[in-house]
Amino acid sequence: MGFTERDGLSDMSIGGVELVATATIVFDMGFKGIDALDKEKTLVDATMTTVFSIFRGYIETMREIEEQLQIRSNGVKFDDIVVACGSGGTIAGLSLGSWFGTLKAKVHAFCVCDDPDYFYDFVQDLIDGLKAGVNARDIVSILNAKGLGYAMNTYEELEFVKEVAAATGVVLDPVYSGKAAYGMMKDMTENPKKWEGRKVLFIHTGGLLGLFDKVDQMGPLVGNWQRMDVSESIPRKVGIGKMF
Ligand SMILES: Cc1ncc(COP(=O)(O)O)c(C=O)c1O
Repeated sequence: MGFTERDGLSDMSIGGVELVATATIVFDMGFKGIDALDKEKTLVDATMTTVFSIFRGYIETMREIEEQLQIRSNGVKFDDIVVACGSGGTIAGLSLGSWFGTLKAKVHAFCVCDDPDYFYDFVQDLIDGLKAGVNARDIVSILNAKGLGYAMNTYEELEFVKEVAAATGVVLDPVYSGKAAYGMMKDMTENPKKWEGRKVLFIHTGGLLGLFDKVDQMGPLVGNWQRMDVSESIPRKVGIGKMF
């Protein structure tokens, strides 16, 4: 399976500082299912949610990618992994999983809020809490793709989302993967040498419901399509992302 260091990571989480102990509890509980988490509400805080998602989500995702590559790809290997970043949990898990696994692909994060320095610090804190002993800047590269602000889009970003959908059938969401893919294409255009000859895996993290909020902005871009008439219970404010 080629993921021997994964066991090292969970071993490291036994004992030690609070975050490590917390991670261990969540990791164990993960096998009992989400119901176990609900019964121990005092243990569920933001830190645990993040650590939980790292252990059970994206480190595991890297293992699955390795498995799929071994089974189906005839020796194809990815040099780079590109993904959107909104809180930092996803990129922490992916980059640790890639680093400790066999893939060793460089993770490129395109952040849709805050700024790269904030996320380098955030990821470093998680790495240090897990006693993983690596430098965040060695395992992940973070670029800014925030644009106008969280959940706010330029015409060009939405046009890009539409073009990708029309050309490939893959529908990106405007808040996360759309901005990340737009940022990646921009970086590829501005720094072609950096990407030349590399095999890149772009991870679409979902979030398609974010498109509903963009219907007015996207309407003129999509030809004959029409908006369904649905009454809205929550009034929206012009220029402000739907989450605020
Ligand atoms: C659809 C989608 N993609 C990506 C992300 C970013 O993940 P993270 O918060 O772990 O950085 C989020 C976060 O909410 C999300 O909802």
